[in-house]
Amino acid sequence: MDYKKALSQPIFEIIGETADELNLDTYVIGGFVRDYLLNRKTPKDIDVVAVGSGIALATELASKLPKKPQVSVFKNFGTAMVKYGELELEFVGARKESYHRDSRKPVVEDGTLEEDQKRRDFTINALAISLNKTDYGTLIDPFNGLEDLENKLIRTPLDPDITYSDDPLRMMRAIRFATQLDFRIEATSLEAITRNKERIKIISKERIVEELNKIMLCPIPSKGFSLLHTTGLLEIIMPELTALQGIEEIEGQRHKDNFWHTLEVVDNISMETDDLWLRWAALLHDIGKAPTKRFHKKIGWTFHGHEFLGSKMVYKLFKRLRMPLNDKMKFVQKLVMMSSRPIILAEEHVTDSAVRRLVFDAGEHVEDLMTLCEADITTKNPKKQRKYRNNFKLVREKIKEVEERDRIRNFQPPVSGEEIMTTFDLKPSKEIGIIKEAIKEAILEGEIPNEYEAAKAFMIKKGKSIGLNLAD
Ligand code: CTP
Repeated sequence: MDYKKALSQPIFEIIGETADELNLDTYVIGGFVRDYLLNRKTPKDIDVVAVGSGIALATELASKLPKKPQVSVFKNFGTAMVKYGELELEFVGARKESYHRDSRKPVVEDGTLEEDQKRRDFTINALAISLNKTDYGTLIDPFNGLEDLENKLIRTPLDPDITYSDDPLRMMRAIRFATQLDFRIEATSLEAITRNKERIKIISKERIVEELNKIMLCPIPSKGFSLLHTTGLLEIIMPELTALQGIEEIEGQRHKDNFWHTLEVVDNISMETDDLWLRWAALLHDIGKAPTKRFHKKIGWTFHGHEFLGSKMVYKLFKRLRMPLNDKMKFVQKLVMMSSRPIILAEEHVTDSAVRRLVFDAGEHVEDLMTLCEADITTKNPKKQRKYRNNFKLVREKIKEVEERDRIRNFQPPVSGEEIMTTFDLKPSKEIGIIKEAIKEAILEGEIPNEYEAAKAFMIKKGKSIGLNLAD
């Protein structure tokens, strides 16, 4: 079959012509071919392999292109990159050694196309389409990648033990592709991952997190996390999460399995949002439960303070995985910290003041918090399910009401410290703090509206009650 259609972008013809001039057999390979055949949007980074010098091909190509783009050459790795419009063209010479873009290993030996394909991660990533005139558009598929695409199968071209030990990150890539594409990982491959799991330790945290994030952004992330779990990789990468697994029973009292519950929450939230950090918040919202779990004869299982401890654990986990310790991390911490608040609220009578406090504490993240809490409803009891959903609906309505009336979200005290000082002729002192706090409390409790006049009257009353006199 002819795959010329895959090469509809004009750049492929130019690369082919250049390759013919240099007498180099040249192919487009990897993600571009895979995604084309899967009818997915093709990536902007395109991998081109030449049997010979990929760098020479890139250099010659760039000199022919309009505006003569720069060529970034990585001599040690035998690769070169050319930016062309929004495309990033990556050139490499076929090699016998394992190839991948971020490999730290220098190029060892030139090889044939087939040798190069054999050293790639998966058969579906080893498909190549020729760019030379004589066989332009021919698919070269010595490892039956096409068949694996049709059968939705992740399979390594070589013995999986070799492929994975060449680059252990591929264990995560296998799981990521299975999740992204909804493919199955071949049994021998899955066994090899389990066998080689410890090797993940030699991979940098940044690259691991990159794969984790890609899994996290899939439509059903639990598929990836459960594969990470069954292969033993998750235990190495995030033991805090696997610690949540299991159900204990004492005196007939059981608690739910918080690991599988967590994965359900992540899937639920992924139906509502593509926000990576909100999904992370879902993944980590219960991590404080393993270390805080206790059994009490009278009340059964408790996880007291798990939100607070959990938010501390978020920092440690982000730090260990070299994730950003910035406002994204703080966002995740805040959501973990507040993750039980709406539930407690919804279990009881939903009062205005409780809602006002929730909005005050969650600030701009109140909607995200509600989304997390709705995703957290995984009870299979339809009666409870209905009750929680209704209560959350009520909470959301109340949030809107309270917002319109009281503008609590980015709360600014309606009476300033300055004014308190002049009213009572005070110097900076603790009384000012006491009065300010009392005004805030009165607003949150609904005793007074969030307005200047009411707050001023309240300030005068409060000041007098703590023994202050009005200024003359
Ligand atoms: N590759 C590999 N082993 C790796 C990484 C990459 O063999 N650890 C090979 C594969 O043939 C892959 C190609 O290099 O198709 C390009 O790698 P990359 O751009 O990282 O992946 P893509 O397959 O393009 O897919 P994605 O962009 O989704 O990561």
